[in-house]
Amino acid sequence: MFNLMIVKNYDEASDMAFKVMKDYLKPGKVLGLATGSTPLGLYSRMVKDHEENKTSYAEIKTFNLDEYVGLPVTHPESYYAFMYRNLFSALDINEENVHIPSGMAEDLEKECQEYENLISKAHVDIQLLGIGSDGHIGFNEPGTPFDSITHVTDLAESTIKDNCRFFENDITKVPTQAVTQGIGTIMKAKNILLIATGENKAQAVKDMLQGEVSEECPASILQKHDNVTIILDEAAASLLK
Ligand code: GLP
Repeated sequence: MFNLMIVKNYDEASDMAFKVMKDYLKPGKVLGLATGSTPLGLYSRMVKDHEENKTSYAEIKTFNLDEYVGLPVTHPESYYAFMYRNLFSALDINEENVHIPSGMAEDLEKECQEYENLISKAHVDIQLLGIGSDGHIGFNEPGTPFDSITHVTDLAESTIKDNCRFFENDITKVPTQAVTQGIGTIMKAKNILLIATGENKAQAVKDMLQGEVSEECPASILQKHDNVTIILDEAAASLLK
């Protein structure tokens, strides 16, 4: 069941997302977090709220969706570095409560299994999602089984192209694999908040909301989740009937 909100632009989408998120910024809550440009507006609002209203993250746990394989945490485009730069460094969050899979683990299979176990025990209260232009969530590309758990995946050609802009527009610098929560992992979250803005997300948004539930559009599985809030701007909603 979708709670669908369509707002004017990216700023309004970020304001709306913060309103939803605010309810979960409480001691004991477990947040599922995402990277990409989409959540940046929400993250800056969380930082502002922490500074102005002293909202504390000391007893909040977080689990990120994914990480590139082969990028050390010191690489500026690793999702670890992204999260600290854009959110965690400005909060009073406890480092031991932050969970981001490692794409540098010697045994990646073991890393995936351990990450999955930790999430299963934690019970994510709200999972934040963006969406790829091909309908991916996390790094679950089209064709990923709906019952997948945390795993290593190859990135789709279109995703590598989309993410090129973060790697000096040099396609050879974009990692080709990632560790990602599976679709089954994401679906276990109690609530899901997906934000999509911009015209290049319009087709994926249409497929997600009005297409068949199919592994060809990973985000379409959200039609089967009981508590999903989707926030779109007008451009991302432009192909909806
Ligand atoms: C990446 C991330 C996704 C994200 C997507 C969209 O591939 N793994 O979690 O939703 O990109 O990114 P953006 O928000 O920059 O459009």
